[in-house]
Amino acid sequence: MEFMVGKTKVTLKKGDITDEKTDAIVNAANSSLLGGGGVDGAIHRKGGPAILRECKRIRRGKYPDGLPAGQAVITTGGDLKARYVIHTVGPIWHGGDRGEEKLLAECYRNCLRIAIKYDLKSISFPSISTGAYRYPIEKASKIALKTVKDYLEEFDRLKHIIFVLFSEDDLKIYEEAAEAIL
Ligand code: APR
Repeated sequence: MEFMVGKTKVTLKKGDITDEKTDAIVNAANSSLLGGGGVDGAIHRKGGPAILRECKRIRRGKYPDGLPAGQAVITTGGDLKARYVIHTVGPIWHGGDRGEEKLLAECYRNCLRIAIKYDLKSISFPSISTGAYRYPIEKASKIALKTVKDYLEEFDRLKHIIFVLFSEDDLKIYEEAAEAIL
C-alpha cells in the first residue's frame, strides 16, 4: 500500500527490513546498543561486525550510560544493502501511563531528524517497540504514522519512507491505521 504525503512516498509492506535498499534502515535497538534479538539481532547478523564496532564507539563516546529511550544514533550499514543503520531505543510498554506514547513518537522524529541531517532520501522503519517491548501494535501503528505524517508536513526533504512489517497481521493493522491517518 502506498500514500503520498506532500512530495514523499510512504510505503507499507511485509518483509525483512535487512533486505531493504533504502539509504538507511532503522534498528529497534536496546539502550546498550550491543545487539539483541528481533530486528536488532537480524541487523547485526546480516550487517556484520562493523556496525557493532561503531555502536561500541558511540557507547565509549557520547552515550557511556547507554542510549536513552526515544533517542537515535547513526552508524554504517556494514554489509547491508542500506548504507546506514539508524539505531533507536523504543519504550518498553508498562501499560501506557509512563510516557510511552511520547517516547515512541520521539523515536520516529529523531530517526527522521538524523536522516535529514545526513541528507538521506529514503529510510525504512520496523514496527518499533511492538515485539519484545510489548507495545500494543494497534496503538503503536497510529503513533508511528501520525508522527511521520506530521514531520513530513514540516520537513519534506525525504523522497521515500517504507514501513516494513514482519507479518501479514501486522501489515493489516498498519494499513488500517494508514487509511485513517494518511
Ligand atoms: N524485519 C522487520 N521487522 C522485524 C524483523 C525483521 N527482520 N524481525 C522482527 N521484526 C518485527 C517484530 O515482529 C516486531 O513487530 O519488528 C517489531 C519489533 O520487534 P523487536 O525486534 O522485538 O523490537 P522491540 O519490540 O522494539 O524490542 C526491542 O528487542 O531485539 C531486542 O535488542 C532488542 O532489547 C531490544 C528489544
